[in-house]
Amino acid sequence: MDNVSKILVVDDTPANLKVITEILSRENFKVSVAISGERALKRLESYIPDLILLDIQMPGINGFETCQAIKEMDHIADIPIIFITALSDTSNILKGFSLGAVDYISKPFKEVELLARVKTHLKLYSLNQSLETQIAERTLKLEDTTTQLQTTLDQLQASQLSLIQHEKMSALGNLVAGIAHEINNPLSFLSGNISELKVSLEEMTDYIQLYERIYPSPGEEITEKRRQVDLDFLLQDLPKMLSSMEMGCDRLQNISTSLRAFSRSDIASKIEANVHQLLDSTLLLLKYRLQTKNNVRPEIQVIRTYGDLPEIKCFPGQLNQVFMNLFANAIDMFDELAEENSFESLKTRPQQITVQTDCLNDKDIIIKISDNGKGMPATVRSRIFDRQFTTKVVGKGTGLGLTIAKQIIEEKHGGQITVNSIPDQGTDFIVTLPI
Ligand SMILES: Nc1ncnc2c1ncn2[C@@H]1O[C@H](COP(=O)(O)OP(=O)(O)OP(=O)(O)O)[C@@H](O)[C@H]1O
Ligand SMILES: [Mg+2]
Repeated sequence: MDNVSKILVVDDTPANLKVITEILSRENFKVSVAISGERALKRLESYIPDLILLDIQMPGINGFETCQAIKEMDHIADIPIIFITALSDTSNILKGFSLGAVDYISKPFKEVELLARVKTHLKLYSLNQSLETQIAERTLKLEDTTTQLQTTLDQLQASQLSLIQHEKMSALGNLVAGIAHEINNPLSFLSGNISELKVSLEEMTDYIQLYERIYPSPGEEITEKRRQVDLDFLLQDLPKMLSSMEMGCDRLQNISTSLRAFSRSDIASKIEANVHQLLDSTLLLLKYRLQTKNNVRPEIQVIRTYGDLPEIKCFPGQLNQVFMNLFANAIDMFDELAEENSFESLKTRPQQITVQTDCLNDKDIIIKISDNGKGMPATVRSRIFDRQFTTKVVGKGTGLGLTIAKQIIEEKHGGQITVNSIPDQGTDFIVTLPI
């Protein structure tokens, strides 16, 4: 058996030590001895037995004090201690138990009794230890599983959030595509008829002019009617009216094109897109939010300084989502500012969103979206890209916008998004994207 139990016997009487050692050795225990409490403690600094037999009455520190000292040493505090006592009075036995002893043997002892007690406590001790190891192992496993569960939960939450956001965007994309389609139909017969109408009007004008040349005096009634309808003015004004109707149609056409650019959100691979068109169509959708809120907030001005950009390979729908959030954040901030300040004081300093674009080099473009609003303190600025960080009231912000923006720019496009912000001066978001 390689697992021989080690027993330390502490007694100041050499004869006792000898007898006990003999009995235990016969049973194949590995026995060490100490002839005083001090020696025992010294020994226990480096030697760890499985059980201690401890005499109570000893010169120097007695058995009780030795026991107390052992219980204070973490690495051996759990080792079972059996007192050996000549005193059979109950108070000493009780004191021994209260100090943490597991049992006692009274002198003179019988060999069978000594062995029975020693073996029982060794067995209990070893059972106890294996139980503790098992508990420790299971606790560790449990902790492991908990961490795994937490990670899975985090991942689930993240994908759930981006699903929601994606759903929102594609629903919006579909709606916008539908609207663009609905506009296109009536628009095409409006603009088709207007050009027909222009030709017809010219022909009618020709006809009237010819008629008047041939019949310069058509009679009282016709001359009177001509004056009443102010024919000269009509003939002059009708073409102008038609021109402005044509312009209106062109504008509608542009809006429809922008809307369609915005709605292309669900494509699987990157396509070449015009970033300015994406920015414009997003701003178009936000137009009503930029307008003045009567007596609450003046109109938000948008200043576009567009550089000469090539088309870039990207997911246009996703970039729209990023721009949408950056603009919406600035508008939200101006709305908040309006709650804190009077309309008059806001009018003294125009509220502006500036959009600047440029080529950074021949590989990257840069898009800077700035506002001259509230700015952010460092404590907010350092957390804005964190998932679910928002300073907005419940129901207004989910705190996902910038997290998703960062994911789209950095992970989906290999670009970068950074922020500069100074309280009371404003905020810049700088996006760089590879061409
Ligand atoms: N232009 C800005 N000026 C001042 N603070 C801003 C600006 N843009 C963002 N922030 C701050 O960053 C926070 C996080 O923005 P983010 O877009 O991630 O979430 P949100 O707008 O609060 O909610 P969500 O976009 O999900 O509706 C905002 O709550 C706001 O405090
Ligand atoms: Mg937002």
